[in-house]
Amino acid sequence: MFPSEVSACFRLLLCLHVVSQLGTWGQQRWPVPYRRFDHRPAVDSYCEALYPFCPTGDRDGRIPYMRDSDVVSVYRLQTPVWEFKYGDLLGKVHIMHDAVGFSSSETGANYTMEWYELFQLGNCTFPHLRPDAAAPFWCNQGAACFFEGIDDAHWLQNGTLEKVGELTGSQFNSMAQWVQEDNETGIYYETWTVLSDPGPNTMAWFESYDCSQFVHRTYRKLAELGARLSSRSQTNYTKIYLYSGEPAYLGNDSAIFGQPALKNLAADIRQFYHHFRPHQSFVDLAFSLLEAYKKIVLDKSFYLYYNFEYWHLPMKPPYMRITYEEVPLP
Ligand SMILES: *[C@@H]1O[C@H](CO)[C@@H](O)[C@H](O)[C@H]1NC(C)=O
Ligand SMILES: *[C@@H]1O[C@H](CO)[C@@H](O)[C@H](O)[C@H]1NC(C)=O
Ligand SMILES: *[C@@H]1O[C@H](CO)[C@@H](O)[C@H](O)[C@H]1NC(C)=O
Ligand SMILES: *[C@@H]1O[C@H](CO)[C@@H](O)[C@H](O)[C@H]1NC(C)=O
Ligand SMILES: *[C@@H]1O[C@H](CO)[C@@H](O)[C@H](O)[C@H]1NC(C)=O
Ligand SMILES: *[C@@H]1O[C@H](CO)[C@@H](O)[C@H](O)[C@H]1NC(C)=O
Repeated sequence: MFPSEVSACFRLLLCLHVVSQLGTWGQQRWPVPYRRFDHRPAVDSYCEALYPFCPTGDRDGRIPYMRDSDVVSVYRLQTPVWEFKYGDLLGKVHIMHDAVGFSSSETGANYTMEWYELFQLGNCTFPHLRPDAAAPFWCNQGAACFFEGIDDAHWLQNGTLEKVGELTGSQFNSMAQWVQEDNETGIYYETWTVLSDPGPNTMAWFESYDCSQFVHRTYRKLAELGARLSSRSQTNYTKIYLYSGEPAYLGNDSAIFGQPALKNLAADIRQFYHHFRPHQSFVDLAFSLLEAYKKIVLDKSFYLYYNFEYWHLPMKPPYMRITYEEVPLP
């Protein structure tokens, strides 16, 4: 080949690559942006928490004000939720919970900040099928919880408690204001990250929105405010992946479940979620994930609920993966 042919060929490949990145000819943005709301709606009384949300936090979510002369230490906190070998299908699973800690050098008080499900993980991953409602019913809100104290023993036992940086009082106060806005506008939990491939040249169709994403957003905000963060060890986090071809948009509850024309699709979605109803314990959830895995491999199909809308995912190998991988500090 002559150099000009090489470069034409390279340009063509590059073009094809760019076109595929644009999805449906630039119509759809990938990954689909997580929808922000102008306020957090009240929770439906059908949703019942197994454990109360944020029992020791301030009722109105207030965060104490720090004097600018203060030096506030920042801690990376991580603890296993459950860890066990998940057959040979998914390997050893580390499901970790992440949080951020702070301590004030002026007052000596310390604080824990985390973001988690109001009604436990199972309820954010799988909906309820109610006989009285056509559409699957989701108890999928998640929120930030800020409370006084750091339970060192809880985080140190098989987990992490590491100081990763320092803030001025005013950096802390700016972060506190951001947390409250983030908490008011980002209201629902999303377990799954959906990718096109497991390799490096992957397309992200959907991003998760969970406790570790909150921690990453917080670290990015702190870096933006001028804080320097660093860790002596690798900073790994749990990710729950699905792998699929280009997702197809289906519609929201009223579009799918309110129209007789789509009754087959509606029945199919209910049937799909019938297999994966939310469960009481993590062990049950683990079995539910295993069931989900088997069904996905068999049917090569998944109905994803994202931004309160349904998408169809044409699933492909390796279908589902739970990883514990590094996300460096900003
Ligand atoms: C999920 O929601 C149901 C119904 O509101 C509730 O009974 C249950 O405690 C919630 N939590 C879990 C883990 O299932
Ligand atoms: C976040 O929102 C939840 C739910 O309304 C509330 O309980 C919590 O106090 C808020 N947290 C912060 C830090 O504002
Ligand atoms: C947080 O405060 C408690 C109570 O004073 C103390 O036992 C603990 O060691 C502190 N933890 C950190 C990380 O500062
Ligand atoms: C910590 O790890 C040890 C040894 O692997 C185990 O026996 C123990 O149950 C773990 N503790 C927690 C809280 O996970
Ligand atoms: C559902 O989607 C339709 C368009 O398909 C839209 O008109 C309607 O406002 C949406 N409903 C909600 C609650 O977002
Ligand atoms: C942490 O992540 C890195 C890269 O993502 C990986 O190579 C390493 O094995 C992970 N550590 C653990 C303990 O899984």
